[in-house]
Amino acid sequence: MAKILVTGGCGYIGSHTIVDLIENGFEVISVDDNSSSSIKSLDGIEKITGKKVKNYTVDLKEFEATKNIFEENKDITGIIHFAAYKAVGESVDKPLFYYENNMFSLINLLKCVEEYKVPYFVFSSSCTVYGNPDSIPVTENTPTKKAESPYGATKQMGEVMIQDFSKVAEANSILLRYFNPVGAHKSALIGELPIGRPMNLVPAITQTAIGKLPKMMVYGSDYPTRDGSCLRDYIHVCDIAHAHTLALQYLIDKKNETKCDVFNLGSGNGITVLEAIKTFEKVSGVKLNYEIGPRRGGDVVAIYANNEYAVKGLNWVLKNSLEDMMSTAWAWELKLKENQ
Ligand code: WQD
Repeated sequence: MAKILVTGGCGYIGSHTIVDLIENGFEVISVDDNSSSSIKSLDGIEKITGKKVKNYTVDLKEFEATKNIFEENKDITGIIHFAAYKAVGESVDKPLFYYENNMFSLINLLKCVEEYKVPYFVFSSSCTVYGNPDSIPVTENTPTKKAESPYGATKQMGEVMIQDFSKVAEANSILLRYFNPVGAHKSALIGELPIGRPMNLVPAITQTAIGKLPKMMVYGSDYPTRDGSCLRDYIHVCDIAHAHTLALQYLIDKKNETKCDVFNLGSGNGITVLEAIKTFEKVSGVKLNYEIGPRRGGDVVAIYANNEYAVKGLNWVLKNSLEDMMSTAWAWELKLKENQ
């Protein structure tokens, strides 16, 4: 059974990916310093899969501690690297915090990939690498533009580092450019756990709907889109998770076209903020208390994916609609309240 190291395994996408890996026959270990996640995610994973996943509570910026994981696990077949800070708005306010964390952790991991001859490396990248694209939908060949935020810049730099590393390393890598992951596992046993006030749209919606927030702001209604609010490509976190399992299998089966293939992980549908809110209200039956406010720094106007390369290359079948995204996100919020 191939052993996979998932960094950020207690996080939102990491925990959902661990479930999918286990359900597809992989053995998984996690490393997560829980600086922006809860170790309780592993309880949810155990309830869903029946497997207790070992987590190394290690800050990946600490090279010796990171290396020790590989000393103790000489049989790691692949790494899926999620661990990073990822709030666009926050990164505008704290650039060095983002550059130090996201880049140093990646460099340490790649050093271990080289030293311990880990064959496969999958990197959690982001559609933010495209900046404000000149035309949409974007394909993997759409030129990346200046990132609109330090967060996006760390993903752009991360991709370049891995591409250069792949040219000289034995390891084969894959860059997965997520669009906007939302929703939760259908069991409502794992989901998104924002620390403090949620920065992302869907947790802001569900926390407002359940009364944790008195109201939410729609950041801007004067954008050149069909209703003036920003346009994004929302994709269910379980569809994103399964794409990681498929990406690893694609490398194991040696189907990769280069030493560092790139895939867009999006639904291929562009949805505006106001349309997302309307869909939530429809599936939850809750009228959302929101106000239209000023634009948010770092926001891209409109982006959504041409996901054909991932669908064909990874045999990726998307299973969740926007309604599923909203209904599972709402079920998770309701479960959090129940467990309070
Ligand atoms: C979406 C839209 C906001 C909150 C995210 C992740 C990033 C990356 C890309 C993976 C924007 C608007 C939000 C609110 C709002 N994902 N909004 N009110 O900025 O597209 O980036 O996806 O790597 O990690 O952060 O997502 O959910 O923050 O914003 O109006 O209270 O919702 O302005 O237009 P974003 P988001």
